[in-house]
Amino acid sequence: MTLPSTIDPQDMRNLVDHFPQLLNTLQLEKTIINLCKDYRKKGISGICFLGMGGSSIAGNYVKALLEQSSKIPISLVRDYSLPTSIDTDWLVIAVSYSGNTEETLSGLVQAKERGCNIIRITSGGEMGQESEDPIIRLPTGLQPRATLPLMLSAILAVTEILIGSNRTDFGKLESLIITMNSSWKEWDETPKEMAESLFGKVPIFIGANHLKPVAYRAKCQVNENAKAPAFYSEIPEANHNEIEGFFDIYGCKMIPIFLRSQHESTRIARRLDITYDLYLEMDLSPFKIQAQGQTLLEEMLTLTHYLDSVSVELAYLGDVDPVSVERIQDLKHRLST
Ligand code: PA5
Repeated sequence: MTLPSTIDPQDMRNLVDHFPQLLNTLQLEKTIINLCKDYRKKGISGICFLGMGGSSIAGNYVKALLEQSSKIPISLVRDYSLPTSIDTDWLVIAVSYSGNTEETLSGLVQAKERGCNIIRITSGGEMGQESEDPIIRLPTGLQPRATLPLMLSAILAVTEILIGSNRTDFGKLESLIITMNSSWKEWDETPKEMAESLFGKVPIFIGANHLKPVAYRAKCQVNENAKAPAFYSEIPEANHNEIEGFFDIYGCKMIPIFLRSQHESTRIARRLDITYDLYLEMDLSPFKIQAQGQTLLEEMLTLTHYLDSVSVELAYLGDVDPVSVERIQDLKHRLST
């Protein structure tokens, strides 16, 4: 596959700007489509996404999006070993951008030993070496987190075939996000304005249902792009613990950011409203960000594109390079020696 010629892998703002186009860049090979159709016919017991960090996000999104409607379990493993329940009748989709992440490689070895069906998604490394497993190849030279739209389009398409749900039209999705986000008119603040409000503070992104992984992605993007602390939490769970912790923040200005959806149930909406009010009464200056678009997936992706852009603006405000991740590399290097 070839990347759009306007992509500059060394420029994170450029990569984030191309988020909508990258959703519609990778076309699944016929052999992979046919293989997934065969799995569907034959019947598999479950789908397990295996991956770490930037290579785990797409699986996390697809799980959140489809697990309620899927008749087979969808599982996500971000660790060295697979649960015993994942056996020969499962499909394991191992994702590692570099192809060298040790946790993912370890899970892959286990999947092989158990005779699971396997699809690899990678740009190279150990996982990219020729093997009997089908491989979806990603272009080299990018940061793993910047490939979320590429990975997502592959993983979502594969999963939709496997569970027999309607296929996403990525061309339509691309146009929609470009229309919605080209001048950020639909949002209360531009990403730059939002970044200015967050600069020097610690954001905590709060999501419910399909926006839980979006909140998690936003936290990771602030960590890795802006090299700044950030957290995330999930409603309803955070209502049972975290709200107590906010009474004492040790002088650190934490900013709760509520990610809101038009698909919230009445009770979830009520919880989010009350939690917002509680934080307001505690002088925490919370924000609400309403996701744009109609469907769950549109909401997830318009919001991700917006928050990815906020993280890049935060990096520029802090005068840091949003591309480099020296500590992650240092840690991997130390582990390998
Ligand atoms: O964003 C990053 O660089 C990390 O979160 C990586 O994605 C993570 O360390 C896993 O590496 P890889 O994506 O190459 O498997």
